[in-house]
Amino acid sequence: MNEYLSLAEAAEIVGKSKETLRRWDNEGILKAVREPVSNYRVYRKDDVQTLLGNLFDEKSEETISNYEEPLQDYSVLELFAGAGGLAIGMEKAGLKCAALNEIDKWACQTLIKNRPNWNVLEGDIKNFDFSEYRDNIDVVTGGFPCQAFSYAGKKLGLNDARGTLFYEFARVVQEVNPPICIGENVRGLLSHEKGKTLEGMISILDEIGYNVVPVKVLKAIHYKVPQKRERLILVGIRKDIDILYEYPTAHQKIYTLKDALKKGSLFENNVPKSEGAKYPKYKKEILDLVPQKGYWRDLPLDIQKEYMGGSFYLGGGKTGMARRIGWDEPCLTLTCSPAQKQTERCHPDETRPFTVREYARIQTFPDDWEFSGSIAQQYKQIGNAVPVNLGQEIGYSIIKFMNQLVQAKSQKVANF
Ligand SMILES: C[S@@+](CC[C@H](N)C(=O)[O-])C[C@H]1O[C@@H](n2cnc3c(N)ncnc32)[C@H](O)[C@@H]1O
Repeated sequence: MNEYLSLAEAAEIVGKSKETLRRWDNEGILKAVREPVSNYRVYRKDDVQTLLGNLFDEKSEETISNYEEPLQDYSVLELFAGAGGLAIGMEKAGLKCAALNEIDKWACQTLIKNRPNWNVLEGDIKNFDFSEYRDNIDVVTGGFPCQAFSYAGKKLGLNDARGTLFYEFARVVQEVNPPICIGENVRGLLSHEKGKTLEGMISILDEIGYNVVPVKVLKAIHYKVPQKRERLILVGIRKDIDILYEYPTAHQKIYTLKDALKKGSLFENNVPKSEGAKYPKYKKEILDLVPQKGYWRDLPLDIQKEYMGGSFYLGGGKTGMARRIGWDEPCLTLTCSPAQKQTERCHPDETRPFTVREYARIQTFPDDWEFSGSIAQQYKQIGNAVPVNLGQEIGYSIIKFMNQLVQAKSQKVANF
């Protein structure tokens, strides 16, 4: 069965839901064959690869632009700033960073080293009072780490969330009173505690005076990022403002690993050389047997069983195990460390994890953005980040919103 993929595996590789694949089967876009015993759909690997090739075809023309020229300076307060993925994106879009807060010493050193003029506030957010920025910031942004709330069976209010980092995010928004606030998180927030955590966040923002725009999960591959990463975006608009926020429009062109690491339309040069993690001998010997775009199923059966251990008999996709990325596909989501068994991402030609600079490229950090700390700290900062290009596109959407607000205000003054 080595040349066949299950429905779950094919869905994961193509980056679509199982329902979409069933529909594609019916519509003839990607035909499945039936497994003789179970009658389940299985997919020929070659068919999936051909379809992928078409999806990521270089020829697809780009006609979308989210670019917006700011009518005046707009300022950002960036919370949970990490190594600055979102912050650089905002800067590239044309927003001005008024201050950034981050607890991690190495991430703060990265920010200070690259932008000595940025106001980096190092330390636990709980210890900072931001009221000096009240009514002087246009957007508060932050990728607060997700934590459960304790419920007493009622609508959640700000005080009930005390002790969580979302509480701190909302507390700062309340202190600063910006027209718009943007939280970012992982897709898993949608289903965390059966959706109650997200529901609680929306009710807290409502309590402190913000309407939440219908929540959306943005796929980074649609925003000039050569990686299948997703980010949940939570946008709050101050209730006295009657302006529609629009998410950035998805681009048509999908970038691949080749675009990330080689000279081309995304970067002007090949990726610079840099340090990186290495595989232990045993793992290298196994990954040497896996072709581009392959994973554990491409290993000889006895090695599959040995490498996967108990997981071998559990079935399911697990397409991240012993995975080698192909040049002509976007990379799978990078994590905080480059060589984890469940989320392996081996270089296409060489049997090794991506180097630090390759990691940074896949997250669309510019080559001159230096990371501080040990190699492990650097991977962590990069793996934690919002891809810079996605941040830039979100930045344009904020500028569009703020431009409309400025115009509406000047219209009001003119009519007075
Ligand atoms: C998902 S990362 C944010 C990544 C960042 N937005 C970027 O694009 O690079 C979350 C960050 O929150 C920081 N953090 C966690 N607890 C914190 C706290 N109590 N105060 C301030 N920052 C905190 C972590 O150190 C981490 O860098």
